[in-house]
Formats: sequence, C-alpha cells, structure tokens
Amino acid sequence: MTVLDLEKARAKKAAALPYTDEVAAKTDHLYKRVETLIPPPEWRLHAPYIAAINDLKKKKNAVILAHNYMTPEIYFGVGDFAGDSLQLAKMAAETDAGVIVQAGVHFMAETSKILCPDKTVLIPDMDAGCSLASSITGADVRLMKEKYPGAPVVTYVNTSADVKAETDICCTSSNAVEIVEWAAAEWKSDTVILIPDQYLARNVAAMTDVKIVTWAGACEVHERFTADDIKELREGNPGVIVLAHPECPPDVLAEADFAGSTSGMSNFVKKHQPDNVVLITECSMSDNVALENPKVNFVRPCNLCPYMKKITLPKILKSLQSMQHEILIDPAISERARGAIERMIALPLTRQSMYTHAKAPQVMAVEARAM
Ligand code: 13P
Ligand code: SF4
Repeated sequence: MTVLDLEKARAKKAAALPYTDEVAAKTDHLYKRVETLIPPPEWRLHAPYIAAINDLKKKKNAVILAHNYMTPEIYFGVGDFAGDSLQLAKMAAETDAGVIVQAGVHFMAETSKILCPDKTVLIPDMDAGCSLASSITGADVRLMKEKYPGAPVVTYVNTSADVKAETDICCTSSNAVEIVEWAAAEWKSDTVILIPDQYLARNVAAMTDVKIVTWAGACEVHERFTADDIKELREGNPGVIVLAHPECPPDVLAEADFAGSTSGMSNFVKKHQPDNVVLITECSMSDNVALENPKVNFVRPCNLCPYMKKITLPKILKSLQSMQHEILIDPAISERARGAIERMIALPLTRQSMYTHAKAPQVMAVEARAM
C-alpha cells in the first residue's frame, strides 16, 4: 500500500463519522449560524467532526485560532477566536489554553509558537504554506541588510521564523503604513526595507514619503487579480462597492473603493452595510462575512488559497487526537523573532492602515536572490 492509499483509506474511515441525535444536540446551535449557506445534507457530514473537535478541545484545554480565510464550517463551527493575522497573533499571546491549534497557515502557527514557547502549537497540515513565506530566507535578509546598512527591516508576518529573526519589527497589512513610518523615525533613516511582498510594499509606498526597498515576493492568490477584473465586475454589477486586500497589485487597489486587511474589509462591510459588495481576496472570506451581514449582497469572484484550503475538519480532529503536527522552533531563532513580533504588538497604533494611493506606488528597489 502506498502512502497515498493509506491517506485515502484514513480519509474514508474518517468520513464515516455518523450523524447521531447526540451530535445534533451538540451542534444545532452552531448550524443556526451557517444554515443560509450550508445545506442540511452537507452539514450532517460536518457536524460529527465539529462535535468531536469541540469535545476534544475541552478535554485537552485547547483553543482553535481561525483565520478569516477558513471555510465557514471551521470558522463558525470550531474556531474559538477568528480574525486577521494581527488579531490571531494577539490572541495567541493572550490565551490561557495549553494547546493552540492553528486553523490557518504555517507562518501563523510559527508566530503563535514564537509568542507562546511553552505552549503546544499544532498545525493540522504541515503543507499549509504560503507563497510569500517561501519566497525569502534569513540568508536573503542578511544580504539585504549588508546592501542597505542602517535601514530598519520591517517584515510582513507572512514569513518564516528564520526571516523574522533577522527583522527589526514585523507588520501585517493592517498596520504596515504606520509601522514603516514608525521604523523610519525610530532608526532615523529615510529608507526602510519592507519585505517580502512587493505589492504590499508598493501600496505602502503610495501612502508615505519613506523610501522603500522590497523583495520580489508575491501572494499567489492576490497577484492574480487585475484592474480589468475590477472594471468588468463594475460593468456587470453597477454600483457595486469594491474592497481589496493590499497584497493585490497597485493598479487593482487604484480601482477599489477601499483596501485593507481581511478584518479591515470585514469591518467596512459591518459598518457601511453596502447593498452590493465584492471582496477582492480569498473566496471563503466572502462566505464568512456574508453570514455575518445577511442584508448585504456579495458578488463572488473566486480565488482560492490552496494552502489555507489544506485545513479541513477531519485534519483538525486528527491533529487534536494525535497532537500533530507540533511546531518546533530553534530557541535561539525563536527568541530573536519574538522581539520583532512583540515590538509590533506593543506599538499603540490607534487605527488600521489605509491604502488610498495618495501618491505613485513607487518603491526604490525590488531585490531578488541572485541566480
Ligand atoms: P491578513 O493579515 O489581512 O489576515 O492577511 C493574511 C493573509 O495571508 C492574506 O493573504
Ligand atoms: Fe499566503 Fe496568499 Fe495564501 Fe495568504 S492568501 S496564505 S498570502 S498564499
């Protein structure tokens, strides 16, 4: 039997969890949150996992941190805390639970482990990566620091622990503009290294006079959106409000009505209750925000993040049953990376970064690894 056959056999066995009266009693209140989206036959497949996961969480003193891109059955069914990268990092730092299961991607689980070295942090699938995190290494950052001495390194949280260890301060899309300006002032430097997302860097550059050097990384989900996509969406849906994530290319943001982190977009919908909205980001986000805003109509172009979608209910259950896959980080690297994340969390920022393209999204340089 090959490894694949074994995986399939295991998946089949897992799929056989029965929907019983006991499962219904434990999950009916959760179904109310998603019933307008998930039909009953599909819910009956999810519910046994949800009941088993929620029971195990209690037994093992575990919490599940769910990113906004998780599918609704995870987000509403088993997530204890949900949010964007920054909110999840803060929640990891605050929780009293002994075990954190990261319903998100690997860099998020690493961030939790860095902030909580004494806790057990689990990721249900080790292959839940990120094209941004895999674009750059610690060695790449060291070379950039040699090339731009004195410039502080601001690193997007979508990076490995190794890269964070070379970093002065981390940022997320919800605070990148403010952090870049803070770092420039603190280091008394007119230039900041903002890595590894070249599009986020360009979008930040449009909002600040700080000179920005970046890296040739990109999110493979958001870089696929084009300005023409937005124009077509507007033609097909007159009056639609367009919200975009700042990992999209600058010409996409220039066509949008608002750009912000995943939670920034969600808050915009909650606050403004537009009649018709489109979220230029990962698909599941629209499902989750739509369920929380039943009066708003969502136009749904669909770009899936293949890494986020590796996280499923059966894998979360297995993760809690077998306490796999545990995130382990070299303590010396973790210690250095923690400083960069904690510095970000400690900054008293009062508002979320806005990306309105006040000026041209021009960066000073886009570095890449020499071939
Ligand atoms: P947020 O910080 O906006 O949640 O973004 C994380 C991410 O991976 C977006 O692609
Ligand atoms: Fe990474 Fe993009 Fe997926 Fe977010 S959506 S995890 S940035 S690949």
